[in-house]
Amino acid sequence: MDTTSCVVTGAARGIGRGIAELMVARGHRVVVTDVDAEGAERTAREIGAAAGLGQDVRDAGSHTEVAEVAARHGDLVAWFANAGVGDDGALADLTDDQVRRLVEVNLLGTVWSTRAALAAFGPRGGDVVLTASLSGLGPVPGLSLYAATKAAVVSLASSVSLEAPRGVRVHALCPDGVDTAMVAEMRQDGTAKRLVTSGGRMLTVEETAQAAVDLVGSRRVLRTLPGWRGAAMRIGQLAPSASKPALAAFALQGKRRLR
Ligand SMILES: NC(=O)c1ccc[n+]([C@@H]2O[C@H](COP(=O)([O-])OP(=O)(O)OC[C@H]3O[C@@H](n4cnc5c(N)ncnc54)[C@H](O)[C@@H]3O)[C@@H](O)[C@H]2O)c1
Repeated sequence: MDTTSCVVTGAARGIGRGIAELMVARGHRVVVTDVDAEGAERTAREIGAAAGLGQDVRDAGSHTEVAEVAARHGDLVAWFANAGVGDDGALADLTDDQVRRLVEVNLLGTVWSTRAALAAFGPRGGDVVLTASLSGLGPVPGLSLYAATKAAVVSLASSVSLEAPRGVRVHALCPDGVDTAMVAEMRQDGTAKRLVTSGGRMLTVEETAQAAVDLVGSRRVLRTLPGWRGAAMRIGQLAPSASKPALAAFALQGKRRLR
C-alpha cells in the first residue's frame, strides 16, 4: 500500500493539532484522537485529517482500536503520543484525583500508545514520537508530579529506542513553555507559571510541532527546545539543592514577565 497513516493523540487543540496539520501536509492519512471527541472530529474536519476520534488515553484497549482505524487508512508509519494534562501545584497541594490523572494520562497513556504503535507497525517500521517536556530533565518546583511523569517519559524513550526492532525509532521531544491552553490554565500566581514563562518568549505551537515532526525518520532520540535550556535543566538535575537560587531568580523573572 502506498498510502501511509499516522496517529496523533491529544490533537483536538494545541501542539497535537499542530503536529496533525503538518502530517496532513506531508501527505499522510492522519487519525486525530482526543478525550474531547467533538474537538477531535472538528479538528479532523478543519485540517483535512482522515478521522477524528474520541479516545481517553487512560483506556489501554482504545489504543489498539485506534491503531486498527489507522491501518484501514494506510500503512501506519508514525504515532505521536502527545495527550497530556498539566495540573500545577506542589505535590502536597494536589488532590488525589489530580495525582491519579497526571500519572495515568501522562505516563500510562504514553506507555499504552507506545506499546500499541510497536505492535501495529508493519515491515516498513515507523516512528514513535513522545511529547515529553523540558521539565522532565530537572527540578521544577510547583510542577513536581507533572515533571516526574515527563522524566519517566524521557526514560521510556531512551530505553525503548534501544529495544525497538530494526526500522522502528522512538523519540522524546522536550519543549520549554509553549503558548497553549495548558499553560494559560495554570494558576496565574503559581511558581510553575512563573518558571514556564521565565525563559524569554514562549515557544509557538508551530515551531514545537515542527520539531516533533522533524524527529520522524531521524536517529535522534531526545530533542530539547530550545537546546540551551536542556543543558541548564540537566545541570540542575545533578545538584537540585544548588539550583535553588537559580530557580528562585527564574521565578522572579517570570513574575515580572507575567506583569
Ligand atoms: N504547553 C507547554 O508549555 C508544554 C511544554 C512541554 C510539553 N507539553 C506537552 O505537550 C503536550 C500537548 O500539550 P498542549 O500544550 O498542546 O496542551 P493542550 O491542553 O492544549 O492539549 C492537550 C490535549 O490533550 C487532551 N487530553 C487530555 N487528557 C486526555 C486523555 N485522557 N485522553 C486523550 N486526550 C487527552 C486534551 O483534551 C487536549 O486537547 C502534552 O503532553 C504536554 O504535557 C506542553
